[in-house]
Amino acid sequence: MDYRLTTRMEGAQASIIRELLKMAALPGMISFGGGAPDYRGFPKEFVKQVADDAFTNQSKSVLGYGISEGYPPFVESLKKHLQDKEKLDFAENEVLILSGGQQCADLTAKLFVNEGDTVLVENPSFVGVMNAFRSYGANLKSIPLEEDGVDLTALEDAFKAGPVSLFYMISTFQNPSGITTSGAKRKAVYELAKKYDVIVFEDNPYGELRYEGEWIPAMKTLDTDGRVIYTGSFSKTIAPGMRIGFLVYAKALHTKFKIAKQAVDVHSSTLYQMVCHEMLTKDLYDSHVSAQRAGYYKKMKLMDEAMKACFHPDMTWHRPEGGLFIQTKLPEGMDSLPFVNEAVKRKVITVPGSAFLTNQEDKSNAIRLNFSLPSEEDIEKGVEILGKLSYEILG
Ligand SMILES: Cc1ncc(COP(=O)(O)O)c(C=O)c1O
Repeated sequence: MDYRLTTRMEGAQASIIRELLKMAALPGMISFGGGAPDYRGFPKEFVKQVADDAFTNQSKSVLGYGISEGYPPFVESLKKHLQDKEKLDFAENEVLILSGGQQCADLTAKLFVNEGDTVLVENPSFVGVMNAFRSYGANLKSIPLEEDGVDLTALEDAFKAGPVSLFYMISTFQNPSGITTSGAKRKAVYELAKKYDVIVFEDNPYGELRYEGEWIPAMKTLDTDGRVIYTGSFSKTIAPGMRIGFLVYAKALHTKFKIAKQAVDVHSSTLYQMVCHEMLTKDLYDSHVSAQRAGYYKKMKLMDEAMKACFHPDMTWHRPEGGLFIQTKLPEGMDSLPFVNEAVKRKVITVPGSAFLTNQEDKSNAIRLNFSLPSEEDIEKGVEILGKLSYEILG
């Protein structure tokens, strides 16, 4: 059959990460490849209790059609949580519960990106969201990331060269770099976006996983004219299989986003919204996240120490203040792909930096390592294997 497919998906590339992760299931593999939270900490018993109660006492609401805006008690508890924790303001803004952060990106692209529009992303950036923009025909342009966030001169030049539909940024513990945009840069980016009338899509799925350093308010807290669309997710803090994420945007956008949601999947899982609601209101969420945080902090330090002991001195990285990744780099100008391919042969999965570029054919010297999912034993073993490889490659 000769399928006459639309041109819409032509720019979207298969995720190297998803392909690598298929190999992670093979026996004996150590995977630093994924971006998932530790399944050992999933609150299984609590989910069972909520499900049991829901099926016994609220079967009509849990198994019937739900409301597109979200399960109403959860909408309220989530707003309270975001007000208390992130200082987001719901006098001017609304929240919409969606099926994971990925759907938040998809619906934002659906509303703001026409075929051929320019969308700016950080370099590097998260491939899943870049693919969401690509699938609406966006022309992606990347802006270099510095240690404290995006290069402001490059951003202003790109805004000037415009028109730009949207700027996508991962403000805290960026995926893959681990970089957090400073408070000063958040303000400067917001001012530039205002000057050149650009929408900012601020993605913050890792913000609650801070191990060190000071909390920095989201750019959304600076937003006085409704140009920042903020997104978060419970994938990294509770469990990704629930597929619960959310958008926060100016009230004027609510109807449009709601209709976009209805056109895709009508509403998100009521059962898992109930789980999130019960966790937030029974004060279990904070204790759960703080236990997760403590476990990840320990693993991050273990990986960092093991890297210091095993890696060739020409390999560099910054210890992240939070999130799930350490990004390490081979010397400038080298391509990390042969390193990553050889590591797979030695049964260690990592992700090459090229997976996070607007053009995956370009070379990158970076390698992303995840520390939340592997066991402590695997972290030590895997880093030792990568360390040996680094000496073989760098001499
Ligand atoms: C930066 C970023 N945004 C969004 C997502 C999507 O997360 P989910 O759809 O599981 O909520 C991820 C997942 O890895 C991510 O790293």
